[in-house]
This record gives sequence, structure tokens and C-alpha cells, in this order.
Amino acid sequence: MIYENQDQFEALLQLVLKEKGLDCRQYKICYLKRRLNVRMRATQQNTYQAYRKFLERDAEEYDRLLDRLTINVSQFYRDPGVYQQIKQVVLPAWRRNLSVRVWSAGCANGEEPYSLAILLREELPKLCQVRVLATDIDPICLERARKGVYKARALATLPEDFIPRYFRQENDDWVIKPELQRRIDFKRHDLTGPIPGGPFDLVVCRNVLIYFVRALQEKLFREFHRCLAPGGFLILGKTETLLGEMRNKYQTLNIRERIYQRI
Ligand SMILES: C[S@@+](CC[C@H](N)C(=O)[O-])C[C@H]1O[C@@H](n2cnc3c(N)ncnc32)[C@H](O)[C@@H]1O
Repeated sequence: MIYENQDQFEALLQLVLKEKGLDCRQYKICYLKRRLNVRMRATQQNTYQAYRKFLERDAEEYDRLLDRLTINVSQFYRDPGVYQQIKQVVLPAWRRNLSVRVWSAGCANGEEPYSLAILLREELPKLCQVRVLATDIDPICLERARKGVYKARALATLPEDFIPRYFRQENDDWVIKPELQRRIDFKRHDLTGPIPGGPFDLVVCRNVLIYFVRALQEKLFREFHRCLAPGGFLILGKTETLLGEMRNKYQTLNIRERIYQRI
């Protein structure tokens, strides 16, 4: 049983901000409490104050907590319908481009930016320079993403003929080939802070905003608008949606797959 106390809860969030730079106040409270409670039960602490003291004694518990707070679940070609729609709705706009810049924000272990780079490589003229900026707050999953080493089961969602083209086998693992890897810059970035400059032709921010409070979501929709090139595209996760005044600043191209275009 966990005993709730708002002051203790806020003191705990302050500590995480001070020690780890993670501004938990921007995450939805019910989500935060659910995740925190998992760690509190695992460490048998039943008040926020007791857990705060536990964190101060055990530096490794911070990593376990941050791991719980930043859910890194992803998949190659996650929601294949989105990739189908990028092909049909987004790519025709870029047929004559000499370069395309994409930002995958909240890229987890790299499945999303690699999937995007593969799709663009397959579908755009070879002359077109594709650059993908892939960012996440979690340095551990970014390191995994940079290495680009995956188990066979992780590739099961990719179209089969892409696998030998973009991966080489090393024992039980599949490793991204360098010609794809060098199109992607992996960088640590916190979406609660300042946003990269752009301009981007496409911003993909999927299954991240859902954890943030509405004010931060609205701020990010404004910032994405600012860093998108004119006519650039924004793609959200299937359970996320544009909110507030920014609904008038994007045209909805496919509501089911959450594909929007900057007006
Ligand atoms: C569920 S994954 C989504 C991965 C991918 N976009 C997808 O849809 O498959 C959410 C990712 O958001 C990252 N994340 C959480 N809070 C963040 C923040 N404040 N700034 C940047 N990334 C964050 C997590 O580390 C995690 O890798």
C-alpha cells in the first residue's frame, strides 16, 4: 500500500530534476504515479519520502527509475499503415527534392529512424540526400540505436526483402549496414527543453506526447510548426492528436494515421 502525500511527491520530483535533469512536472501525474509506484513496490518503500531517501542512498535506483519513466518500446515499421501513407501522401511532395531532412523525436532504440531511412531510400530518387536526426532523452537506448544491432525477431515487422539490403548477419544478430547508418545522427535531446533548429521536411513524434501534460503538448505543436519547412509534415502516434490553436496551423492529411501538413 502506497501512502500518497502531495508535498512528498513534489519533493521527489524536485530531487529527480536536480540530480538527473529530468523535468517530471511536464509528465501527466497519473502516468508518473503509476510508473513510480512500480519502483516503490519493487524497493518496498511505501511513501514518496521513504523512496526519496532510498534514491539518495542507492545511485543505481535512479537508472532503474528513469528506465521505468521512459518507456522504450518500439518496432520496425510500427503501425505499417503509417508507412503506407507516408509513401502515398508525403513522398509525392518530395519527388523533385535534392535533399530531405527528417526528425524522429523520441526514437527509442532506433527502430523508427531506421525504418524511415529505409523507406526514403527505397522510394526517393537515389540522387536525393536523406538526413535523419534521431533524438531521445534516454542515453542507454540511444547507444543501442547507434550500434544498430537487433535480434531476428525485431525484424519480423519489416518487409522481408529489406533485411538483406539493409542488415548484415553477425551470429544471432542483425546489424544495420553503414550506408544506412551514416544517414542518421543520434543525439540526446529532452523534449521538455529547447527544440532543434530545423528546417525539417518531416517531424515524426510518435507515442511520446501521450505522457506529457497538455500545456507541453501544445507548446511542442507550436515548436514543431516553427521548425518545419513550409509545407513540411508532422506525424503523431495513433492515440495522439493535435490540440488547441495549432489545429488551425496544420492541414490534416490522414486522421487515422495522424499525418498533418504545416500550413
Ligand atoms: C514508447 S517510445 C516511442 C518510440 C517510437 N517513437 C515509436 O513510436 O515506436 C517513447 C520514447 O520517448 C522517449 N522520451 C520520454 N520522455 C522524453 C523526453 N522528455 N524527451 C525526449 N524523449 C523522451 C523515451 O525515452 C522513449 O524512448
